[in-house]
Amino acid sequence: MKYQVVRNTKYDYTGQSYSSGYPNLHKYPATMLPQIGIDILKELNISDGRLLDPYCGSGSSFMSALECGLTEMYGFDINPLAILISKVKFTKISHDAIAKTKQELRENVFEFLKDEQNIKKLKNPTITNIDFWFSSAVIANLTVIKHFINDIKDENIKNFFMIPFSETVRDCSYTRNNEFKLYRMKNEDILNFSPDVIGVYFKKLTDTISYYEYYYLPRLQKKITVDLHYSSFRPKHEFFDVVLTSPPYGDSRTTVAYGQFSTLSNEWLGIDYARKIDGMLMGGTKSKTALSNGIIADYVAQITKTDNKRALEVSAFYNDLGSSIKQVAESVKMGGKAIYVVGNRTVKEVQLPTDQFIAERFEENGFKHIITYQRALSNKSMPCKNSPTNKAGKTVNTMMFEYIVVCEKVA
Ligand SMILES: C[S@@+](CC[C@H](N)C(=O)[O-])C[C@H]1O[C@@H](n2cnc3c(N)ncnc32)[C@H](O)[C@@H]1O
Repeated sequence: MKYQVVRNTKYDYTGQSYSSGYPNLHKYPATMLPQIGIDILKELNISDGRLLDPYCGSGSSFMSALECGLTEMYGFDINPLAILISKVKFTKISHDAIAKTKQELRENVFEFLKDEQNIKKLKNPTITNIDFWFSSAVIANLTVIKHFINDIKDENIKNFFMIPFSETVRDCSYTRNNEFKLYRMKNEDILNFSPDVIGVYFKKLTDTISYYEYYYLPRLQKKITVDLHYSSFRPKHEFFDVVLTSPPYGDSRTTVAYGQFSTLSNEWLGIDYARKIDGMLMGGTKSKTALSNGIIADYVAQITKTDNKRALEVSAFYNDLGSSIKQVAESVKMGGKAIYVVGNRTVKEVQLPTDQFIAERFEENGFKHIITYQRALSNKSMPCKNSPTNKAGKTVNTMMFEYIVVCEKVA
């Protein structure tokens, strides 16, 4: 192991989950425990400056930063649903404004539904294979709710009301809800499935309001800036003081399908490239040659022996991660820190040392590796077993640990 790894049980958080500290406002795959960010920022004595998360997902790094006193944060993610969740969590809206809008929305929706003919006046949304994923009753009710959410004038309040809407889309569709990928329920389950869409929405809205008002709003009293973009990271020369992020572990197709998880929500939110997102994420574009330099090259060579196609897919991911690290490194001020929380996935029974790759690439770009902590992984909502040979029934434990890689800009 070229870059030192220290097992640190302090970062295991045994028995704790995301929701025990900071409940998310919306489900999201492979979230980072905010507790990790809080403890590592404290350990490094970081309590001010500009924080960057180049793959921010649902925004746990911003919660960590906020808890440590930071007030200026910048986030990027290609997935619009991720940015929506992050935005809503860190935008201040008063209790009264939310309560008033909820009341109006309720009245509008129920008034409208009194006359069945009204629904015919609304245009159906553009959703791919809509009848495959939703019953006609569900489509009608979702369309009504969406229509009245769209009428909300204030953009921040509208976004807030979209969060439970997006969750309702997922829960009332024919998708199997305990999966990240888009799989349809069995036909026999569909026969017995007739969700009360309006009831589900208003229940979720009530829960979202409670979580927001209890966990988020009190932390938004001082002036904070959370600048969010639904795009890949755009470099800014020596601008950031600290980077705190949990990048993807591999390409979306073979690890966590962030795009697929979010497809129906994104389509209902009006994103016309919703079905293309997984291909746009890290490792989504095929590589023509296998990676042949640096720490990861020997591991890729081992995969090539059994499966050249997989070796090229793995190479594509590391090429993208490497290019992104170069841009991130360039954007950090001298003395600034980069903290990456990552898992080492296994492909074709070869465990890939992504933590070492990250340290190596930062060192190649003006940073010095400070420390890597190894933490036991028991909380992340991820598939921790997979079938690397793609043979049914043959599974191995892939990610028992996660790594917190810390580097500092020195040149
Ligand atoms: C492990 S998740 C981050 C989770 C986040 N820390 C949280 O707690 O919700 C990785 C994120 O990277 C995003 N992503 C993947 N490739 C990207 C890229 N090239 N640019 C920006 N974001 C990307 C995915 O959409 C996903 O939201």
